[in-house]
Amino acid sequence: MAFPTETVYGLGANALDPDAVKRVYLAKGRPSDNPMIVHIGEKSGLKDLTDLMTRDMELLMDAIWPGPMTMVVPAKDIVPRVTTGGLDTVAIRMPSEETARQLIIKSGLPIAAPSANLSGHPSPTTYRHCMDDLMGRVDAIICGPDCQVGIESTVIDMTGGDDRPPVILRPGIVTAEKISQVIGREVSLDPSLLKKPKIDKTTGNPVTGQDFHPKSPGMKYKHYAPKAEMTIFRGPHDAVLRVIEDRRAKLEAQGLKVSVITYSDSEQETAAREFFARLRECDKDGTDVILASALREEGVGFSVMNRMFKSAGYNIEDVMEDQKMRIAIASDHGGFQLKEKIREYLGEKHPELEVKDLGTYSEESVDYPVYGKLCGETVVKGDADLGIVCCGTGIGISIAANKVKGVRCALVTSVEMAHLAKEHNNANVLALGGRTTQPEEAFAMVEEWLTTEFGGGRHKRRTDLLDEM
Ligand code: RB5
Repeated sequence: MAFPTETVYGLGANALDPDAVKRVYLAKGRPSDNPMIVHIGEKSGLKDLTDLMTRDMELLMDAIWPGPMTMVVPAKDIVPRVTTGGLDTVAIRMPSEETARQLIIKSGLPIAAPSANLSGHPSPTTYRHCMDDLMGRVDAIICGPDCQVGIESTVIDMTGGDDRPPVILRPGIVTAEKISQVIGREVSLDPSLLKKPKIDKTTGNPVTGQDFHPKSPGMKYKHYAPKAEMTIFRGPHDAVLRVIEDRRAKLEAQGLKVSVITYSDSEQETAAREFFARLRECDKDGTDVILASALREEGVGFSVMNRMFKSAGYNIEDVMEDQKMRIAIASDHGGFQLKEKIREYLGEKHPELEVKDLGTYSEESVDYPVYGKLCGETVVKGDADLGIVCCGTGIGISIAANKVKGVRCALVTSVEMAHLAKEHNNANVLALGGRTTQPEEAFAMVEEWLTTEFGGGRHKRRTDLLDEM
């Protein structure tokens, strides 16, 4: 049965009945060495599941339960190994959401519940999310309120007893700072939380090794993944927003559906509450690419970023303050001399630009399609904002660049054409002929193209049509 909790919706079964628990794994399509969290309705229920009781546990239960914190403790024999993911420890939590507590109390049972989604999908924070994933796969879905926390509970390993400090295995809304404050000593973070794991390209799972048995959910398997490709931009917030807007425009020009997820550092709780729901919206509306801004990795921001990084498969781009506009330049042997001169010109006259020289690097004969394509791809991938390509006439290399979807390459032979190439066609690549255009003329054309604004309006309608081709 799917039921609401304050963190995310859970898919619950009698924690003490191995068959019931197996059916949860089955409904979710979940690997069976991933432990489940056992939910209790009263603090007193803890002693039915473990013999351990430490000073830290008492302090934490008093301060935080009922609430979004889970403790990993040695399991009593009564807890089946299928519930613990094969371990001799069990993860226990007392939720604060009233429906959940009533369900547990009225059933008179501890309830094992992972999140009520198909394994690998973003966690469900409304009953509608559960319906989307699990209709027909489970016996019942309780249509309760939307989850107020929005990310899963903080999981703490208490098995060190009073000797070793607790270890956070999964960060949540109850932060390390809060836990340390309650127990009066530092908690440590599981080392896996601080490094970027290697991702297995075929499964999307972190590479952890065969023998790794996770003590907490969220440590071993791919999690929270949207259907769209997702990139996280990390750096000064304003610079990040500029880069995201720029990237969005480029991707939309290629006909892709782009969704942007950004929160400022003052919106950490909102980000936690909404993040999974936003991913699910993207799944529904056919988003191809998600561009997200990173929160500062502190407090709740650390926990939200733990989920975001996993969702994006650790696809992160670091943004510098005031990122320079980047221009890629490329040529074949016929355009080599002109390309070299343009590179020198831009370096002298436009130190505010970053020029990426993609070759060729000598007058030895090479094939212009290779360089046209390379420059075009560099621009549409977002590794450069604009491109300049040169060959003998500019013709061959412009044809090559235009074969790349999203490129609007204009071959120009006058300043007026360079002006219109930007104003009307919003050319993102400029092509010039090394044997047909003198360097000084070429500089004037480049200057005109760089400084002219796109006209928009009817021109936008037409460039949109171009980009759809
Ligand atoms: C190479 O000799 C020449 O054909 C090339 O640079 C270009 O003019 C092609 O369009």
